[in-house]
Amino acid sequence: MSYPSLWHKTDFTTKIAASYFQRYNHLLKWKNYKENVLEVGCADGSITRDIIYPHIKDHTAKFLAVDKSEEMIEFAKQEEMIEFAKQDNRNLKIDYQVMDAMDPVQVERKKGQFDHIFSLLVAHWIPDNRKFVNGFRKMLKPNGQIFMTIMVDTPMQQTFYKHASTGSWSKYVPNENIFGEYTDNPAKYFRNLVTDIGFKVELCESEKRSEVIEEFPDFLKVILSFYKYLNRIPPHLQEAYFQDHLRSCYEQGTYLGGKDNLDMPYETMICVASKAA
Ligand SMILES: C[S@@+](CC[C@H](N)C(=O)[O-])C[C@H]1O[C@@H](n2cnc3c(N)ncnc32)[C@H](O)[C@@H]1O
Repeated sequence: MSYPSLWHKTDFTTKIAASYFQRYNHLLKWKNYKENVLEVGCADGSITRDIIYPHIKDHTAKFLAVDKSEEMIEFAKQEEMIEFAKQDNRNLKIDYQVMDAMDPVQVERKKGQFDHIFSLLVAHWIPDNRKFVNGFRKMLKPNGQIFMTIMVDTPMQQTFYKHASTGSWSKYVPNENIFGEYTDNPAKYFRNLVTDIGFKVELCESEKRSEVIEEFPDFLKVILSFYKYLNRIPPHLQEAYFQDHLRSCYEQGTYLGGKDNLDMPYETMICVASKAA
């Protein structure tokens, strides 16, 4: 099974997105014209279609969803065709495009084009959050708004730090950060960062939660597929590395048995902010 289809199977991030939209949808400030909306890091497009789309469709003229992964965008386009075939009464088309939001040239091409930018559970994969959010500022029109969610802490992140610093895996796992670093007060840290970049923050808060993830080994496989350093581990050790990672995650949550379900603790953050004039 390909990684986009494995990702498509998990509803973990869909639940997080749904709960944030339900609670904070009212903070979205729409203009009195039909807007241009961008989503950064849409992956397989399921949250794009199922969660973001229903909230924006009445306010939006153009909706572009981008991801740096060609495989994800290809999958999202195919799913989109299936969805369109099911509901031909949709008046807002979603365009999918490969884009690396950290590439200054690609960001420059979209300068000043968007009224809203959504980016759900992407920023923590990017060590340089200042550059990432600066790019958003550049792509926004005056008074444009960002709606971002970030995974501040997970058993997978903790396991990465453990592997990078101690034990036999440390010779393969880079001892440099591959995630955004949000200190022990993520909301304060991120609020300051975003304000410094030139936004007026409407909301920035983090919270600790837990969620049951069904078939956790499959979920972990997709998460690990995002880790660039994995190909440094020799092929004959890859399975042992995976099993070790799995064990460590199980230790940090509550293993529920069944189909290897794990009640997984995590800390997540939301930031809604408008580009200062
Ligand atoms: C964990 S997934 C989140 C997907 C979806 N937004 C969700 O909430 O389920 C993160 C996605 O961000 C994409 N991504 C990471 N860095 C990116 C970048 N610099 N530009 C565009 N997409 C990026 C990855 O390819 C991946 O598909």
